[in-house]
This record gives sequence, structure tokens and C-alpha cells, in this order.
Amino acid sequence: MRMYDIILKKRQGGRLETSEIDFFVSGCVSGAIPDYQTSALLMAIFFSGLDRRETTDLTLFMCKSGDTIDLSGLPGIKVDKHSTGGVGDKTTLILAPLVASAGVTVAKMSGRGLGHTGGTIDKLESIPGFRAELDHGGFIRQVRDIGLAVVSQTGNLVPADKKLYALRDVTATVDNVSLIASSVMSKKLASGADSIVLDVKTGRGAFMKNTGEAEELARLMVEIGRNLGRKTVALITPMDQPLGLAVGNALEVRESIDTLHNKGPGDLKKICLYLGAEMVVLAGKAGSTGEALEILENNLANGLALAKFAQMIAAQGGNPDIIHNTGLLPKASGETVINAWENGYLTEVDAMGIGLSAMNLGAGRVSKESPIDLSAGLVLHKKAGDWVTPGDPLATLYYNSQSGLERSTALAKQSFKIGEAPPELLPAVLRRID
Ligand code: URA
Repeated sequence: MRMYDIILKKRQGGRLETSEIDFFVSGCVSGAIPDYQTSALLMAIFFSGLDRRETTDLTLFMCKSGDTIDLSGLPGIKVDKHSTGGVGDKTTLILAPLVASAGVTVAKMSGRGLGHTGGTIDKLESIPGFRAELDHGGFIRQVRDIGLAVVSQTGNLVPADKKLYALRDVTATVDNVSLIASSVMSKKLASGADSIVLDVKTGRGAFMKNTGEAEELARLMVEIGRNLGRKTVALITPMDQPLGLAVGNALEVRESIDTLHNKGPGDLKKICLYLGAEMVVLAGKAGSTGEALEILENNLANGLALAKFAQMIAAQGGNPDIIHNTGLLPKASGETVINAWENGYLTEVDAMGIGLSAMNLGAGRVSKESPIDLSAGLVLHKKAGDWVTPGDPLATLYYNSQSGLERSTALAKQSFKIGEAPPELLPAVLRRID
């Protein structure tokens, strides 16, 4: 078999055989296929697409390209959750302890942030002392002891995705439905969960800019999950403006703690409840989403979810006192406020602009190696649909270095649009696919 023929076949719109996809994935991971040929095939896939069978094959071979985690020794049905990425998306920090407090076994591997979107592991590492890098034995032991662990990916999990994602990132081939679906689902399968809940984001701050594309991606991932023996449910949720009010690692931990105290922003709480209810039902801990929602609402109100979060922080070496004293989180030395400049409704708070502003303040990485400032970021004071008058604070920027401040302030200011008519506000969940 020759890589040249595989590239040519896909360039001409042909269907790749299972054996050709196997040859490509194993050669790209072993180094037998050079990056320029892998990149050429990715571009051919971008233009010619993969059908469902090819996408399922790609997912499976990517999953098998490295270690897989065996969670079968842990009690109960293990349910994982994945978001396709957004700005201010701190749902895992809330959801993981929330559903664990309802008796769901949560053995979760999460990633770090890249570009304008944040990552759960960076956020958790802003908790003083918190260790996200547990070895496999420690990870399993903690889940067995307290029913919950959120760790960074251990071992050699899906090396094919690491390789392909890095090449997609520099060859403008990230935003292809089949490539995203195989990337996400290979990692979920390798992480060992029995069932999967997907949060597919759509809008200005998401990979999928419109609901039609997001629905296509969601349907494809649900079908791949089902074909490979995992019950999978996807919710399509809006990402035109940031989720909640805080964007930036320590700032998002603070907002997550507020939400676990049942005092968080309404949009964030709603998404956590809806995603959480799907997880609770898939885990067999409730017979319907209505029943699951009631359990989760109660556990936010009675403090059980918050207590579970403190238990996880302590188990992973962090200071659990932060749940009552968020002043223990890292704090930026400087802050500056952006104010409204005229009367009107906020018609837009562009998630992409706010995400880029936060990244430029140091909250995110430009490349995988760049350092990160855990205390930097923004807190919004108004969201789309709010009425504002001149001088009303729209957002506070938190920073330690003046170097990116001017650009971040401009990016944040441009993200707000003020108009005469109120915008149409979207529901927390646009569609459910199962
Ligand atoms: N998230 C992933 O894990 N992979 C993609 O390709 C896009 C979003």
C-alpha cells in the first residue's frame, strides 16, 4: 500500500477502505508516513469528506493508536461528558461533583486550553496545591474511594489525535465535521466510559458557526458512539456569548464555586442541570430527565454537590477551604473596567472577541508550550439583552502584565454591540440528539 495512492483516491472523491485508514493512522503515529503526506490527506478529506463508515473506521483506529483506560473494575455505569469547546465553559467543574453527588461514578480525563477556548485542567490547577496529574492506579483508587476524579490525560492516550490535531491546527483543517467527530469520539472511547454526553457548541465562539453544522456534527458523533457500543446523547447549546460571566482560569473556578453554592449565573446553572440530567439518566440513577433534574436541583440547594467538590479537591492535594474562601485563589495585580458609551440594549457580547481578549491577557495559550497566567481574564457585568446607560460597567479585565492590556481592552470593547432593539435570546439548549 502507498500513501500516495490513498491521497490521490481521496482527492478524487473516492471512499477509503478500512485497511487504507488503518495503514494511514498507524503510519502517521509510527512516523513511517511523513507529516507532508498526512497534511495532504487531511486537506483532501477536508474537501472530499469522509462518509459515516470511513469516519467510524478513523475513530476506531485513532482510539486503538495508544493506551486505553479500563474502567470496568469501577462500580456502576461510567458516564463521560465532552464539550466541543467554548468561552467561559466551566461546566465540568460544576457537573462532575454535581452528578457524583447523585451517585454517578465520575472518572474523568480533561484537557488544557488552546487558543481562545479554556481547558478544565488549567482551571483546576489554579486551586492552590491541586494535582491533576495522577497515575492510573491513583486515579482508579480515588474514584473507588470517593466516586469522583478529574485528571489530565495520562499515558499515551490517542497519540493519533495529538499528531493529527497539531497538523490540522497549522493546515486550516480543524473545522471539518468528520475530523472533529473522530478526534472527540476516539478520546472518549479510549477513556473507557460506558456512555457519553456531548455538549456541541454552536455560534460565534464555537467551531460550528451555525446550528445546521452543529447538528450534523452531533448526529455523526451520536451514531459513531452507538456503532461502537456506547450510548451517546448530544445537546446543541449556544456559544454566541460567553457562558456565565467569568472567563479565565481562577475567575472561572470562583464562578463555579458560586454556582455550587447555588448562586451562579442562570445560563451556566441551566446548562449544567440539563447536561447533568442526561448523565444521571444514562447512569441509571433516575428514570427520567425530570426526576434527574429534581435530584440535581436538590443537591445544589442542600450543599451536597459543593461538599463533593471539596472532597475531590482535598483528595487531589488542593486546599478545600477555597469553597468558603475564594480569596485563596490567585489574584491579578491590576484591573481595569470597560464602560458603556451610550444608551441601549446590549445586542451582542461576542464570545470569540472576549475569548481572544482573555487569551491576550495571559489566560490562554497561543501555542501548546506557552505559559499561562492563572489569575488573568475578564468578568462580564452585562450580557446580551441587558439595558445599559453611559458609564455602566460592561466588563472588568484582570491582568498582571501591561504588555497585552491595550489590545485586550480593544478586543473586549469591540465585542460589545449596543442597539435600540433587544436581541432575540436563545434558549440554553437548542436541540437534543440521541
Ligand atoms: N475538540 C476536539 O477534541 N477535537 C477537535 O477536533 C475539535 C474540538
